[in-house]
Amino acid sequence: MVIRSLLAGAGGYLPTRVVGNDELARRFDTSDEWIRERTGIRQRHIAGPEETAAMMGAAAARAALADAGAGPEEVDAVLLATSTPDQAFPATALRVQALLGIGQGFGFDLSAACSGFIYGLSMADALIRTGRARGVLVIGSEVYSRILDWSDRSTAVLFGDGAGAVFLRAGRGEGGPGDRGVLSTHLHANGALGDILYIDGAVGRPDRPGTLAMNGKEVFRHAVTKLAEAVDEALAANGLERGEVDWLVPHQANLRIIEAMGRKLGLQRERVVVTVDRHANTSAASIPLALAEAMGDGRMRRGELVLMEALGGGLTWGSALLRL
Ligand code: COA
Repeated sequence: MVIRSLLAGAGGYLPTRVVGNDELARRFDTSDEWIRERTGIRQRHIAGPEETAAMMGAAAARAALADAGAGPEEVDAVLLATSTPDQAFPATALRVQALLGIGQGFGFDLSAACSGFIYGLSMADALIRTGRARGVLVIGSEVYSRILDWSDRSTAVLFGDGAGAVFLRAGRGEGGPGDRGVLSTHLHANGALGDILYIDGAVGRPDRPGTLAMNGKEVFRHAVTKLAEAVDEALAANGLERGEVDWLVPHQANLRIIEAMGRKLGLQRERVVVTVDRHANTSAASIPLALAEAMGDGRMRRGELVLMEALGGGLTWGSALLRL
């Protein structure tokens, strides 16, 4: 028998304000047609002044706990992935801990850009499998609207705000791919590629709070090859063939990349969870938001096999395989 991290519940939060492509086209030189054709994005949610990473993360985490039927006393650790924390410290994870009335355990933020949720899931799984924690909240919460250069049409149209969360609970398995829970996670990074996607500044540089900069073509090129490798790695680690995966829940940056990964896995279109059309790229929040949507509407069923993959600034990338 082995310890497994079971996905007990998922939840999401999206800001109430929705901004369509046409609204952006009134602000700067772009068009609904260009954005939809290149990215698949139709609209994004943009945070209001009260909607911060902590507030949205807490809302998503509350929904994930409710979905799991878990109370705050079951949470041993809060791991929150964000590039847009409310404050440098305390960690946004601990603001969420307080907002949810979690009175024990520990928590921290982690910075892995758009791969943040996969990184967080991997850390949470390690904590659970080594017996350090029995219940872990993994949250992605982002307000990219506050770090975008709104005069740069090549990046401003791509991102949105939101938060997603899952609650993982320790369970038992046989140690094979038939087990429920996280089966494997695969993390990668290459700091030498840090200059193709970055936020130019931080609180340590008061002259420069930071805005997002990206070489879109280079990121696209790396995404297609590295995500394909990460997908193969997850299948090989579990002795699975591509036809055996039930669902792909990819990071939501670009519909063309998402569809390429779906084809690689031999999945029908409806087996690939897509939210990029409505949410745009919500960075670390995109995978848990997509999971919450697909679990919430009953599309996904217990026992099905879910593959997740993401790539983001760093460069960071990775994959995770999970049986519901
Ligand atoms: N509206 C209209 N035109 C735009 C535009 C916009 N919002 N943004 C860029 N353009 C223009 C460019 O100026 C360029 O014009 P030019 O040919 O006259 O110079 C043209 O469109 C093509 O730009 P380019 O950057 O080459 O487009 P692309 O086909 O590479 O698509 C991305 C751009 C960003 C959609 C694409 O590169 C991409 O998706 N990359 C990956 C991004 C990603 O996944 N990032 C997040 C990872 S977590």
